[in-house]
Amino acid sequence: MKEKKTSVYLELKKKIKSKEAVITVVGLGYVGLPIALEFVKKGFTVNGFDLDARRVKKLSRGVSYINDIPSREVAKIKKTGKFHVTKNEKVLSSSDVIIICVPTPLRKVKEPDISFILAASRTLRRNLRGGQIIILESTTYPGTTREVILPSLEKSGLKQDKDFYLAFSPERIDPGNLKYDFTNIPKVIGAFSKRGTELGKLVYSNVIKKVVGVESPEAAEVTKLLENTFRIVNIGLVNEFARLCHKLGIDVWEVIEAAKTKPFGFMPFYPGPGIGGHCIPADPMYLSWKARKVGFETKMIDLAAKVNRDVPAHIVERAGELLKARGKKLKGSKIFVLGVTYKKDVNDLRESPALEVIEALKKKKVELRYYDPYIPYLDTAGIKEKATRLTKTMLKKQDLVLIITDHTDVDYKMISRESDLIFDTRDVMKRNKIESKHVVKL
Ligand SMILES: NC(=O)c1ccc[n+]([C@@H]2O[C@H](COP(=O)([O-])OP(=O)(O)OC[C@H]3O[C@@H](n4cnc5c(N)ncnc54)[C@H](O)[C@@H]3O)[C@@H](O)[C@H]2O)c1
Repeated sequence: MKEKKTSVYLELKKKIKSKEAVITVVGLGYVGLPIALEFVKKGFTVNGFDLDARRVKKLSRGVSYINDIPSREVAKIKKTGKFHVTKNEKVLSSSDVIIICVPTPLRKVKEPDISFILAASRTLRRNLRGGQIIILESTTYPGTTREVILPSLEKSGLKQDKDFYLAFSPERIDPGNLKYDFTNIPKVIGAFSKRGTELGKLVYSNVIKKVVGVESPEAAEVTKLLENTFRIVNIGLVNEFARLCHKLGIDVWEVIEAAKTKPFGFMPFYPGPGIGGHCIPADPMYLSWKARKVGFETKMIDLAAKVNRDVPAHIVERAGELLKARGKKLKGSKIFVLGVTYKKDVNDLRESPALEVIEALKKKKVELRYYDPYIPYLDTAGIKEKATRLTKTMLKKQDLVLIITDHTDVDYKMISRESDLIFDTRDVMKRNKIESKHVVKL
């Protein structure tokens, strides 16, 4: 028995070190695709396994669907002959390293939806042959790796730490971030044994500068949740501060800039139109759900989530007040929403607060148009709208320009010149050094 354990470990170690290890990334989204490409760049043979036929087809033709990754990069990597994209699960059985990057959304009732992880584990079980290391990267509640994936894989008859290794390593990628990408953000990994963690560290050290080992998968799972809880709480705090400062007639952005000059004990977070994306609104809910299971109430998370959830409605209310001050009503007013993705310079609409704002404005019978350089057509959450071109004539006709997302590639000077009233929820005008009496800040 001991001999087999040693041989699986040594064999894998040898294969990873020599780059003979075949890597399969399960789920080629915002997280999985950059990882897959990076391993190919470092000389590994990589399979990209995804169930989405359209994504598989695009990648096979060398076309990217993620705006941080240009198509020419995918095409170049495809030409190496070392990146195989497929819907066929059989690639899993010929892989040595399997990295799972499937979605972990929330159900309508704000509870974890780990159905994608469950499906991926079943597929994996059918193709488990032993001698492999499996690493889950999808953000999830503590205990998922041990309580959900491990039993599912062991139903194959193979045993963890003897026939295969299993670890959890959270992904910290920040789409649109030009300074930090997948390769220079330190990575945390925790397996069930020192050897498992060591093998995982060995895998990632090929593509990431610093890899940090922790004692267990749970420690790695919670690390990610602490990071994103820290963010949701601080964003909630600063969103509350923004509303208070508005009542007091103080510019919250100026206050944050001033507070930022303190060299310790303060970290700036910025208010906005609400939280969005796949991570911040969802991840802390995974933790609070697990906390409830063990009889613990996560008061900070729940309160921050509520404060942040209320922001889009507050934006609509403020828009109504601004129009009222000019003798207009929301009903029938022409409002132009600028930026609809959940954050700047990405093409990701998931959980974007803009959708909630648009929905609420439509209910108020606003004459609504939008522009977003990344979203030519909006077809989500019951909203079907084509983007309107950003022209002087069109801007002049609007009662209000509502800046929701502060994309870089937008002519803010022209917007400021041609618009009568701008409600800037991101302070992007000031950052572009535009001073105008037409601009009202959050
Ligand atoms: N997007 C981010 O910025 C980010 C950052 C850090 C962590 N995460 C976490 O990483 C995970 C993945 O997020 P993402 O943004 O890449 O998601 P995504 O939706 O962009 O991509 C997931 C991919 O997985 C595929 N998929 C789903 N089920 C599958 C299955 N059973 N087998 C094979 N493929 C399957 C989907 O078709 C899709 O292409 C989530 O848990 C998320 O919370 C995301």
